[in-house]
Amino acid sequence: MIVAADTTDVRRAVREAKSRSLSVGCVPTMGALHVGHVSLIDAARKECRFVAVTIFVNPTQFGPGEDFTKYPRPLEADLEMCRQSGVDLVFVPTPEILYPPNFGTFVDVAPLSGMLEGAFRPGHFRGVATVVLKLLNIVAPDAAYFGRKDYQQQLLVRKMCRELELPVEIRNCPTIREPDGLALSSRNRYLEGPARRQALVLWQALQLAETKLRAGEQNVRAVCGEMRRHMETHGAAVVDYATVADPETLVELAAPQPEMIALIAAKIGTTRLIDNLPIRLNEG
Ligand code: PAJ
Repeated sequence: MIVAADTTDVRRAVREAKSRSLSVGCVPTMGALHVGHVSLIDAARKECRFVAVTIFVNPTQFGPGEDFTKYPRPLEADLEMCRQSGVDLVFVPTPEILYPPNFGTFVDVAPLSGMLEGAFRPGHFRGVATVVLKLLNIVAPDAAYFGRKDYQQQLLVRKMCRELELPVEIRNCPTIREPDGLALSSRNRYLEGPARRQALVLWQALQLAETKLRAGEQNVRAVCGEMRRHMETHGAAVVDYATVADPETLVELAAPQPEMIALIAAKIGTTRLIDNLPIRLNEG
């Protein structure tokens, strides 16, 4: 497994793989790898002969007062996990490599970048889109793999690649959960004591919405209110949003439709978590 911090080393390794006609897959991450990340690596390995993982805690996607400095960076364990998962190349740049002095080019994917997560984390998606575009330009993969756990992010990345004509296939992979339903996240490491149990309110709220809507509830607004109330009364310190939206536009629905997506963000203690659940009507 090649571990490279330098863009030239990454480009050389990928060029060499392509010269051997190997298809190239890329899995962008911020490290603190868990089984959710490994599921993306596995999906990439199924389709691509050469798999690159990027590990970079991207400063431009964190707002002031967010957890950039305390974000976990267990590099040795991450590299071991990559090795175990059959990764060919790990790109571990430093902030100085990706953002040299006077860096001034950013990507805004409107209107998605200002909705939901974007409304509560101003500038977040500008940082995500910019770094993902850079990583995809450096690695130049045939396909890149993203988790539906970050539903708005994968939608935004897909739109950016389409609208900027990037020659890369964007693949989406299902959310991996703990046995009790909590979506795996690097930030789950922050959950201590009762917070781990309280964090289940996100999954419970999503299931509540699914149950109501599949039972024929017509008032989507009321369902959103119930999700919010459930989280607020069962352990969430703050609920940023709880919505049922169109899966493509993320606009909140006035009435149910065959395919919907429920999306929520809440703070458990001081830890901010997000989760989502696709809801389909008229199905088994
Ligand atoms: P990070 O949070 O490390 O996530 C990397 C990828 O793993 C994302 O595509 C995310 O959706 C996916 N992922 C996280 N938890 C998952 C789970 N439980 N099941 C399935 N997939 C999961 O998302 C980022 O990093 C960054 O914003 C990044 C795209 C790397 C840009 O900096």
